[in-house]
Amino acid sequence: MSQASFLPLVDSFGRVHNSLRLSVTDRCNIRCFYCMPENGAQFVDRNHILSFEEIHRLVRLLVEQAGIRDLRITGGEPLVRKQIPCLIEMLAGIEGLEDLSLTTNGMLLAEHAQALKHAGLRRLNISLDTLNETVFRKITRREGLDKTLQGIDSAIQCGFESVKLNTLAIKGITEPEVTQLVQYALDRDVMLRFIEFMPLDTDRAWQQDQVLTGDQLLAILQKVFGNVKPISRPDPSQPAEEFQISNGRIGIIRSITAPFCQACNRIRITADGAVRNCLFATSETPLRILMREGVSDADLLSTIRACVAGKAKAHGINEDGFQPPDRPMYAIGG
Ligand code: 5AD
Ligand code: SF4
Repeated sequence: MSQASFLPLVDSFGRVHNSLRLSVTDRCNIRCFYCMPENGAQFVDRNHILSFEEIHRLVRLLVEQAGIRDLRITGGEPLVRKQIPCLIEMLAGIEGLEDLSLTTNGMLLAEHAQALKHAGLRRLNISLDTLNETVFRKITRREGLDKTLQGIDSAIQCGFESVKLNTLAIKGITEPEVTQLVQYALDRDVMLRFIEFMPLDTDRAWQQDQVLTGDQLLAILQKVFGNVKPISRPDPSQPAEEFQISNGRIGIIRSITAPFCQACNRIRITADGAVRNCLFATSETPLRILMREGVSDADLLSTIRACVAGKAKAHGINEDGFQPPDRPMYAIGG
């Protein structure tokens, strides 16, 4: 690596990007209403999905020459992609990459947790919106809460550096289970983070009043657990605010009521090889065709740099005229 070619990814507001979220598939084995349609999801043609070699090239380049330090693998559901532990092993070998994590719905985790750990995966985030099978079916339009719960237990047993649970905070769905979900996490000594529901659903049915806000969550928690104390945040680019509660901690990600755009350090690459400077970006920069036509590393990087440079100041969800992104969540990568 020549030092001369190193330049961090900086946008026009001076934000430095050192965190990459990379989607390995847009497919999923369930159909959460806040992300996918119940039927007829449109998936990318398989030939358009980046190969492991293409992914490795991109990540290595971004780590070696552009200061990416942590990588999160997302989907769709990343574990439906075949041979994911092989990809993890390839990526874990990239010198300079300091963190490697994956976000999953957990349904296939009992089968894969050990292999993922062995391959060098450090941290896991697992989605858990409910502990009730009927509610699970209503949210995901599929069966399988038991598989997710088994997946969580397998992950905990494997000894990852961290296992976190992500709970979407949706009005009318989440309130009755807040206490049980928190207790479930406290009992297992894992961190649960509530995430305010964002307008990323394919059905475009999101409404502001369906967001169970951080303040509303805190009010419920305060009532049940008593003293809920904020913990100061050492890393401003970490979107979760943490709170001391009972004998553990929980997190709240106020993506709607307190957006963290000003401290954002993330870029995204979709499964079909487009770079996006924001979840809510209205445009993206395709890389796959360039790569398959033999683009040089230098040109590939300057294309990515131009995309980052054009990043908007904030997502604008709370402003008049906000348009959700063209792609729903499963096609962007969580
Ligand atoms: N709003 C907020 N978070 C979402 N996720 C999926 N759809 C949405 C949405 N509309 C989150 C899930 C999961 C991760 C993959 O992305 O909770 O944890
Ligand atoms: Fe699948 Fe995740 Fe979307 Fe749910 S949120 S449908 S688990 S990709």
